Amino acid sequence: MSILVTGGAGYIGSHTVVELQNAGYDVVIVDNLVNASEKVLGRIEAITGTRPKFYQVDINDQEGLEKVFSENDFESCIHFAGLKAVGESVQKPLEYYMNNISGTLTLLDVMRHHNVKNIVFSSSATVYGNPAFIPITEECPKGQCTNPYGWTKSMLEQILSDLQKADPSWNVILLRYFNPIGAHKSGTMGENPNGIPNNLMPYITQVAVGKLKELGVFGNDYDTPDGTGVRDYIHVVDLALGHVKAIEKIKEDPGLKIYNLGTGKGYSVLDIVKNFEAATGVKIPYTIKPRRAGDIATCYADATLAKKELGWEAQYDLKDMCEDSWRWQKNNPQGY
Ligand code: NAD
Ligand code: WQD
Repeated sequence: MSILVTGGAGYIGSHTVVELQNAGYDVVIVDNLVNASEKVLGRIEAITGTRPKFYQVDINDQEGLEKVFSENDFESCIHFAGLKAVGESVQKPLEYYMNNISGTLTLLDVMRHHNVKNIVFSSSATVYGNPAFIPITEECPKGQCTNPYGWTKSMLEQILSDLQKADPSWNVILLRYFNPIGAHKSGTMGENPNGIPNNLMPYITQVAVGKLKELGVFGNDYDTPDGTGVRDYIHVVDLALGHVKAIEKIKEDPGLKIYNLGTGKGYSVLDIVKNFEAATGVKIPYTIKPRRAGDIATCYADATLAKKELGWEAQYDLKDMCEDSWRWQKNNPQGY
């Protein structure tokens, strides 16, 4: 039996494949490479000694998926595949709904057909909208998302919940990630955004490596200790290890489960700049810019449920996250 990892060539997926293989699982990746490079397979092999089986298939391609399922025997699926650029989703809502929602519906239909009914889904803290309380527990009501990307996550959570309710032989774990950063310690795998990065850490590392001139800090008038936005940054390897725990949990404890994967600590934009400079010795010039539309002041997790029920807790601190992000960027200035 093996684990199907959709989007397994991407940033979080590739790190999860490494940790699954380290834990002894056989892994099959399905990815259409719309936001990834096949080179990651060699990097995974260099770290773990095993090249994961790979299919370049789109999750909207029902026939392609049928072939994958008929050639393999899956116990569970970890479903990362999706488009994730917030700004782009505002420009191209139809593309985002089709790719993320229709793609997932197709995947679920094929899973059902092959009686593979365990799914771990990549959700996001974005489903809390502007959170009703902080730190955010899983009890916090879902909120109004500010962009189509966020709505795809919120809607897919609903779809998966409805499916599990209608047919309790499905087991579903929704993992709500906070802000993943960092990279594999080897410096051979990391985040590889297309074009100018939207997210803070890749922007900082590209300033550090000289690809971008300076960081724009989006607002310093929020109701936070230094006025800049506060987020719960989590090391991508911790996130990956959370998925290994979820795969163990889904087999022993059926039903629908929801977990926040965060550290429980909030850092401001300026905290990240200072910690990055301290960890790497590289200065990050910045200027204060207007607030970015759709941003909230503060977002960090209460991650005690994942600790209690999954036996998972983040291990890496902000220094590790900064050092590891930088090692990846420095060694791979042009990405893969
Ligand atoms: P990523 O873009 O690096 O990985 C997604 C992968 O899915 C890519 O390799 C891409 O090629 C693939 N993909 C996209 N559409 C596909 C399709 N139709 N068929 C097959 N493959 C397809 O992104 P990531 O940061 O690794 O995110 C993984 C998942 O986690 C995504 O669902 C994302 O929405 C979610 N998530 C990410 C963050 C974050 O900040 N990175 C936070 C919360 C949730
Ligand atoms: C972090 C902080 C910005 C860039 C996004 C998605 C969310 C989830 C994770 C997928 C904020 C500030 C940023 C820059 C800045 N993704 N910032 N200058 O917005 O918390 O979350 O990624 O699910 O859905 O919305 O992350 O890294 O973009 O921003 O000042 O150039 O850094 O304003 O306070 P965000 P981010």
